[in-house]
Amino acid sequence: MSSLTDLYKEIAACQRCILSKTATRAVPGEGPENARIMFIGEGPGFHEDQQGRPFVGAAGQFLDSLLASIDIKREQVYITNMVKHRPPNNRDPLPGEIAGCRPWLDKQVATIRPKIIITLGRHSMELFFPGKSISKIHGTYIRKDGLICFAMYHPAAALHQQSLRQEIESDILKVRPLLNEMEKEPEPVKTEVKPETKREPKQLNLF
Ligand code: URA
Repeated sequence: MSSLTDLYKEIAACQRCILSKTATRAVPGEGPENARIMFIGEGPGFHEDQQGRPFVGAAGQFLDSLLASIDIKREQVYITNMVKHRPPNNRDPLPGEIAGCRPWLDKQVATIRPKIIITLGRHSMELFFPGKSISKIHGTYIRKDGLICFAMYHPAAALHQQSLRQEIESDILKVRPLLNEMEKEPEPVKTEVKPETKREPKQLNLF
């Protein structure tokens, strides 16, 4: 069984925060284990909570069209969220909920080892660009721990604010050249993970 399948079972059983009590099911994330691009959104909404899959509602359809604009299929990327259970009424996830869910995200990053992480919205942006404002840094990136972290507005922002749609559409166009650039770089040396440390989700301090 793949490491991600094992991880999804652990996430499905997670009761670290109150969100697991109110959500219908966990939405761990989806995509291939060898994805080069990983998107990190905020948290599941109504449709995601119903289906157990990330970004399947209106924001997800817009994300699919953004990917198509750079010739990338949804099946080629990994998509997940800061929190794996839906916050009630789509409220923002609380800092404690984000912190409680963080070890799952760290494990996903450690397993997939993407070349580019794209943050969608301010909650995931905060991981890599603490204290920054999304209106200032969207469409820009930093290099960290051998990968590129690229900040974007959340696709749902375009649904509420038409003026942001073009910004998002032009930001995603910067991803393709970045990916080409990263493909040329040598693979980082893989560090051996001991089996006993593999099982426990723990803070990897990747960011
Ligand atoms: N918004 C998110 O942040 N994540 C989803 O999965 C869906 C909508």
